[in-house]
Parts: sequence; C-alpha cells; structure tokens
Amino acid sequence: MPALTTTSDGFLLHGEPLRIVSGAMHYFRVHPDQWADRLRKARLMGLNTVETYIPWNLHQPDPDGPLVLDGLLDLPRYLDLARAEGLHVLLRPGPFICAEWDGGGLPTWLTESGDVRLRTSDPRYTGAVDRYLDLLLPPLLPYMAASGGPVIAVQVENEYGAYGTDTAHLAHLAGALRSRGVDELLFTCDQADPAHLSAGSLPGTLATATFGSRVEENLARLRAHQPEGPLMCAEFWIGWFDHWGGPHHVRDAADAAADLDRLLAAGASVNIYMFHGGTNFGFTNGANHYHAYTPTVTSYDYDAPLTESGDPGPKYHAFREVIARHTGVPDEPVPAPAPKLPVTEVVLDRRAPFLPHADLLAKPVRTEDPATAEGLGLRAGYVLYRTALPAAGDGVLHFAGGVGDRAQVFVDGSPAGVLERERHDETLPVRAPRAGATLDVLVENMGGVNYGPHIGDPKGLLGRVTLDGAAVREWECRPLSLADLSALPFEPVPDSVSGASTGPVFLRGGFDVREPADTFLALPGWTKGQAWVNGFHLGRYWNRGPQRTLYVPAPVLRPGANELTLLELHATTAARAVLTDTPDLGPEPS
Ligand code: GLA
Repeated sequence: MPALTTTSDGFLLHGEPLRIVSGAMHYFRVHPDQWADRLRKARLMGLNTVETYIPWNLHQPDPDGPLVLDGLLDLPRYLDLARAEGLHVLLRPGPFICAEWDGGGLPTWLTESGDVRLRTSDPRYTGAVDRYLDLLLPPLLPYMAASGGPVIAVQVENEYGAYGTDTAHLAHLAGALRSRGVDELLFTCDQADPAHLSAGSLPGTLATATFGSRVEENLARLRAHQPEGPLMCAEFWIGWFDHWGGPHHVRDAADAAADLDRLLAAGASVNIYMFHGGTNFGFTNGANHYHAYTPTVTSYDYDAPLTESGDPGPKYHAFREVIARHTGVPDEPVPAPAPKLPVTEVVLDRRAPFLPHADLLAKPVRTEDPATAEGLGLRAGYVLYRTALPAAGDGVLHFAGGVGDRAQVFVDGSPAGVLERERHDETLPVRAPRAGATLDVLVENMGGVNYGPHIGDPKGLLGRVTLDGAAVREWECRPLSLADLSALPFEPVPDSVSGASTGPVFLRGGFDVREPADTFLALPGWTKGQAWVNGFHLGRYWNRGPQRTLYVPAPVLRPGANELTLLELHATTAARAVLTDTPDLGPEPS
C-alpha cells in the first residue's frame, strides 16, 4: 500500500491531505558537504518536498561493475539529510533523465554499439535497465515512505511522450519498480500537450505535466487528459539553462512568482524546476541537437531561487511570499548569503605541454581507422588520434561522418585548424612540411545529447579519414579521461614565455586561503579548456560565453596552500587567473 494516495482532486499522505510544494535539486550537481545547507534552505523557502533525478551513467559506469554510491553519488545520505530536514522526496530514477545531463543519463557502454534501441522494449535495453535496477533499488527501499522513509513517489521514465510510443516499455519500467519492492505512488511526466500526454502516460499511473507558463491553459490540458486525480506540475520551469555561444537565460522573479501563485491558487501541486540548479562539474553537461549540436555550459544555475552558490536570490524571496499565502512557511529568518573568498590572483607558474606528454595520460590503442571514443571505452573527455602524413605538401583532410564534437588538428605540433560538429565541419586543408609529419587530432566530447533522436550519438572521430581522397591509416588512439593528472611533469614556466602561453598546455599555480569560502574562477585572456582546484574538476571554460566564471565550492578549498590546474587548449595572453567574489554567467538580455 503506497503512503501517498490520490483522491479525485488531491493527494493523501498516510490518509491526510497533502499539497506537494516541491523543488528540484540534483544531489549530483551540488558538493556533498553542501547538501544539508541547501536542503535547509529548501525547507525555509516553504517547500515540503524536494525532487531529484538519478543519473544512471555515473552510478553504473561499468556494465559489469558495482553501483557507485559514495561522495557526490551517495544518494542514501542525501535521502537521510532530506528526512532529517523533514522534507519528502520525489525520486526520478529515469532510467532516461534528460536534465541537460550527459546523454540524458544513459551510459555510453549502452549506446556504444549504436544498435540498442534506446527507450524501447528492445530486450537489450530493458535487460540493461533491469540489471541496473537490481543494483539500485535494494539500497533505496528503506527510504520509501512505506518503510518510514522520505520517498513518497517515484517517476517512470521522463517526458516519454516527446520521444516514443512504446507504451509496453513504460509498462516494463513500472513493473520493474514494483517487482523490486517499490510500492509507492508511480507517476509519469510529460509536456502539457495532448499528444505528448497520451503517448507518455501509462494506465494506473498518475499523469503529471511540465510547463513554465500559461498555467490555467496547461492545467486544463492535463485535466482533459486525466479527468480525475490531483493536478500536478512536475516541472514548473522558473528559469532555463544556457548553451555555449547562446544567450544567458533569466526569468523575471515577479513573473515566475505570479505563475506559482496561479498554480497554487488552482489547487495544484508543484515541483519547481529548479529550486537549486547547481553545476555540471567535470564532463557531465549534456547538449541539445535540433538543427545543430549545441552543448550546455558548465553552470546549471538555471536562474533558480537558490543561486548556483546556494544563496537566496530574488526568486527565493518572491516564491517564499507566495508559498506563505497558500501553505505557509517556517517562522524562521531567511538565510543570508554565504561569505565569499576575498579576490585572489593566481599565477600559473608551472606548465606541462599536452601533446608531447599524452602517453603519460593514456596508453595508445593502435587501429587501422580511427576508433570512436565509446569504442575505446571512454565515457567522457578527449581522444587524441595520432598518425603520420604520407607526403609533404598541401592537401585536404576529410573526416567522414564529421567529428564528435570539436577537433583540433596539429601538424608536427603546429595548429592547423578546428572542426566543429556544431558547424557540421568535415574537411580541413593542411600543409605537411615533410613526408612523415605527425598528424594529431585532439577531439573533445562536449557533452552527450540529452533530448530527442540524437541521444547516444558517438564521440571522437566518427569514420575514416582521407587526405585528398586517399585513406589515412594506422592510428594511435589515446582515450583521455583526465581523471588523474599526477603523471604530468610540471616545470617552471620559463621567463621567455611568462605572461602568455600557447596550447594545448596544462598550467598550474598555487594560492593561499585563510578561511575556505565560495569563490568564482575568472579567466581573463584565456580561450578554452578545463579547470581543477585541488584535483576537483570544476568543468569547462570557454571565452565564447555566455558563462565567464566557474563556481568553486568552499569545500574544495583548504586553509593554507591550494592549487589551480588549467588545461588551455588554444592560447592565453596572461598566465594569471582571478578568484573573484561575484559570478558572471553572461550578460542579461536588455
Ligand atoms: C524537460 C525535462 C527536464 C529538463 C527540462 C529543461 O522538462 O524533463 O529534464 O531537461 O526539460 O530544463
């Protein structure tokens, strides 16, 4: 018997009426030492519930390996903290989660062969899902409300109506949850469109809708689809995410609060997406692909009530006022913004060039034609492809199938050009100074598509390479996860190159901290690359914007000596970085 049940127009929890006033916060986008703080701030805004997805790709990185459930992925601990704060939890285990997350959470080992029909009844897909749920659910069952835990409902799939029509596959997923002991209320969520709602719904499972505005119209569509039961907006979009090269999205707090007011006045339950967006740390961001490929930036601030660094923003106050009028808020003060580190300059005074040291980071795999990143067993990161050009002179390289997703080409170590998936690039003119010149192609996976038919598209070089029509063969392929940089021999930056550097190059510098506090890494004069603080992979930077600073959570800093490492792929005008006290996610639209 589920703890949460439905009436003709509402929810009952253990038989008592419950209006769900929830906010989304993905544990895997927030440093674990900050979970408790963020959950407390959720309760103080007046939320009675938090919602999270579960990212399959991180929890099961190896199809035959154990489930990863520690650190940033310690979901049981997150659920304990939510319970301690008195919050209910909505769990969205996918297995597909969208969420602007790498591949929508589907592991690359599943998409590698390219022929598993994802999100369908294909037994190769449902079999892999079943094995994952065999591992995932036993540690979560004690957290179900029926066992006294905080989890009051579990979502089946995610906006399936926007993707497919294989309802049998939805039924399989619901059955897989039930047969493994999940008795709680199950729900589906779909965009508030009649076609989406009917393709994504499952008889016997509560249908909910996702939308950000036109509240009455969208609730009416949900009601038309489902004549009885609670009205629930499972994703009330109060902001949005950004793509590299696109605008920085913001939504007016008063406008979003007015729509929240309409939702609550209509008697609906709500999950605010996002309450606290957090960060796509490391290589975890997703991408969209409509007409072209557009990767998502590192920040997932989402213009949410709680900013990326966990401070209450204008929406926090505006939403709290609305919630106070409908369901009440705790009689406790609104939390103040957390202290920030004083502005600190970091001099990057040690360096290690990337291409000559690639062997220290990954063993080469020899192939006739280039292997894809997935074929090399790489979940995320870069692949360096190396071969020799047969003859001296000019020629045109052709990369069949294009690149996944951005390739820098070097001849004898000198940059020859860049190919981008976003621009559908497939050719590049090159000049070989000599027969046997080294051709290096460094390909960056910019994030797996998380929505639509391109989910699971491969990364790396995607086909054969030719030079003026003749096959270029005998490649060394190095899969570079950059998970461990300890083998790199950093050397002092010589005076002759101080102040500027051409990449690809790793640069490193130290800085002192008196008392750890949140800070934001600004890289004026730098082009594109990756950043780590004390070994914690903050994620990508790119002067293309809109995002200009990377969030550095206080818990990755320590009192005393700290270390910043950058991988600069192109060039920097100054070997200096700045830790600043204000985030810059890009200009707001005027
Ligand atoms: C949909 C998905 C979410 C997320 C939002 C946009 O509603 O269900 O996972 O991708 O869009 O942020």
